[in-house]
Amino acid sequence: MCGIAGYVGPRNAIEVVYDQLKRLEYRGYDSAGIAFLNGGSGIKIVKKAGKLTELGKALGDDVPEAHIAIAHSRWATHGGPTDENAHPHFDQFEDIALIHNGIIENYLELRTELAKDGHVFHSETDTEVAAHIIGREFSRGVPLEEAVRVAVGKMRGAFAFVAFSRQEATKFVAARNFSPLIVGLGDGENMVASDVPALLPYTRDVIYLEDDRVATITTSGVTIQDLDGNVMETPVNHVDWDLSAAEKGGHEHFMIKEIMEQPEVVRGCLAGRIDEGGKVRLEQVFSDQVWHGIDRVNIISCGTAYHAGLMGKYLFEKMLRLPTDVFFSSEFRYSDPLLSPDSLAVFISQSGETIDSLAALRLCKQRRIRTLGIINVVGSAISRECDRTVFTQAGPEISVASTKAYTAQCLVLKLLALYIAQVREMPGVRVDEHVAELRSLAGKFESALQVSAQVKTLAEKFIDAKLAFFLGRNADAHATREGALKFKEICYIPTQECPAGEMKHGPLALIEKGTLAVFGATDPDIREKVGSNIREIQARGGFAWVITTDNDDSLDTVGDLVTKIPSTNDPYLSALLSVIPMQLFSYHLANLKGLEIDQPRNLAKSVTVE
Ligand code: G6P
Repeated sequence: MCGIAGYVGPRNAIEVVYDQLKRLEYRGYDSAGIAFLNGGSGIKIVKKAGKLTELGKALGDDVPEAHIAIAHSRWATHGGPTDENAHPHFDQFEDIALIHNGIIENYLELRTELAKDGHVFHSETDTEVAAHIIGREFSRGVPLEEAVRVAVGKMRGAFAFVAFSRQEATKFVAARNFSPLIVGLGDGENMVASDVPALLPYTRDVIYLEDDRVATITTSGVTIQDLDGNVMETPVNHVDWDLSAAEKGGHEHFMIKEIMEQPEVVRGCLAGRIDEGGKVRLEQVFSDQVWHGIDRVNIISCGTAYHAGLMGKYLFEKMLRLPTDVFFSSEFRYSDPLLSPDSLAVFISQSGETIDSLAALRLCKQRRIRTLGIINVVGSAISRECDRTVFTQAGPEISVASTKAYTAQCLVLKLLALYIAQVREMPGVRVDEHVAELRSLAGKFESALQVSAQVKTLAEKFIDAKLAFFLGRNADAHATREGALKFKEICYIPTQECPAGEMKHGPLALIEKGTLAVFGATDPDIREKVGSNIREIQARGGFAWVITTDNDDSLDTVGDLVTKIPSTNDPYLSALLSVIPMQLFSYHLANLKGLEIDQPRNLAKSVTVE
C-alpha cells in the first residue's frame, strides 16, 4: 500500500525521505515521488512511475540540498500508475505540495466544484483535489494547518496526507482520517511516515496520530490539533523494535526469513501466557462473567487472517461447542449481519490497519457488540479501537505473503480457546495436556523446517505447473487453503482449494496427467478417507504430494511424495505445522522462477483502501 515519508531538519531532507521510502518498499507500490524546497525557486517535485530506482535516476547523482521534503510511494487506486498520477501533487498555484494515502470518496464532486472556479487538474487522482482544496484555503491567507483542517472537514473517505507550502517552508502539516500516520520525534529534527520501519533509523519516539487530528511539524516540535483547532495532548510511544528485526537477517528474501523465524515466533507468542501449573494466562481479556455470557463468536478478517479465522471456527466449535462464524471483512460490513447482543466479534489482522476490517469493527461498535482484536502491530488502529486486544507478538512482518503472522494468529486462537475452556470449566477439555503440547511446539516447528531441501526438489519438478490443487479435510482443509493462498500469491499459478471430499462434485474434472495435488493428511481420524481421495486423483493421472505426521506410515506407499512433519496430540496443531512445507514449497518454486517474492505483483501488505 502507499507509503508516506516527510522530514524537516538539518540533514539533507531529500536523502532522508528517499531512504524512508526504501524502508517502506515492502508495502508494495507502482510509482514514487518527492517534493522539496528548491532554494529560492519554490517547491520542486520529481516523480516517476515504476520502482524507487526510477525516482533515484530522475533525481540524478547530484542531489540538491534541502531541509524539508515529503515523499510518497503510490499503489494506484484512482488513475493508472503514471508519472502524472504519482504523488506529490501541487495545488492550483504551485504553493503547496501534497502526498496522500487512502481514498477521498467525494473527490469527483469536489473536483467539479473546483473546476467551476477555474482550477485545472493534471492527473486523474483524488489526491490532486485535496491539494487544490488546501491551496484554495491557503490562498485566502490562513495558515497551512488551518487550511488543512478546513479541507479535512470537506472530504469523505479514509485518508492520511502530508503537505507543505513554499511560503512557510519550515513546517509540514499531516492529517489523518482512518489511514495510518506516525510522527517521529527527533532531536532538532522531526518526521512523519505511514509505518514505523521508515522512522527507526532516525528515532524511536513516535506519536500514532489519531483520526481527525492535524499535526504541525517543525524542527523544534510537533503540535497536534483536532479539527476545531484545539491543541490535543498526545502520548509519545517508545518503539523498542530492533532495526535488524525489520531487515532480512542474512536471508535472500524477507519471506524465507519470516518462515524460518517461526520457532521463535511460537516461543514469543506463548511467552508469559502458559504457566508452570498448566494454565493459560491472558491478561488483557474480559472478566469471567463476560466469558460465561458469550453465546456465539463471529470472526472477521481478510486474506491470511481469514484463514486463521477458519482454524478458529474449527477450534471453538470442536473444543468449546461455541457456535462460530467466519466472515470476510469486506462482506461483513455490507451484509447487514445478524448479531446476537451476547456475541463476541473477533478481529484478526496482522497490520491492524486493514480498512475493511476496521470498518467492520466500527459497525460492531455501533451495534454495541463486544470486540476483541488479535493483532500483530501494536498501536495500530484496530488494536486501539477493539475493546480488548491480544497481540500476536510475531515481530514485524515485511513480506507481503504472510507466514509467521498466520502461525501466531492460530496460536493466539488456541490460547483463547483454552482460556475460555478454563474459565467455563469445560469438563471434556484437559487444559494442562494442551499446555504441555504447546510447550513442545517450538521444537516441532524447528523440525518441520528441516523438510526444506525435499520440498525444493519437488518445486523443481513443478516449476512449469499450470494449476495446483490443495486438499484436506477438517483442520487440514483450512491449512491447505492457506497453502494455496501462498502459492497463488507468489508463484502466480492458479490453485483450486476445497475439502478433499468435495473434489468429486466438480473440481475433479480439472485433473489431468501430472496435475499436482497437495494433500494435508495430518488428522488420524480422517486419514483413511483422505487416502481414498488421493487415489481418486491418481486414477486420473494426478500427482499426490501428501503431508502427514511422522507417527503414521499408512500413506507412505500411497502418496507420490510423502513429507513428514512432527506429530502432535492435537489435530489443530498438526494442521498448523503442515503449513510449513506448503510455505516452503511456494517460496522455493517462486524463487526458482526468479519472481519478486517479497512484493508480488498487484498485492500489498497493508490494504488501507476498501
Ligand atoms: C493483504 C495482505 C495479506 C493479508 C491481508 C489481511 O491482502 O497481502 O497478506 O493477509 O491483507 O491483512 P491484515 O493486516 O489485516 O492481516
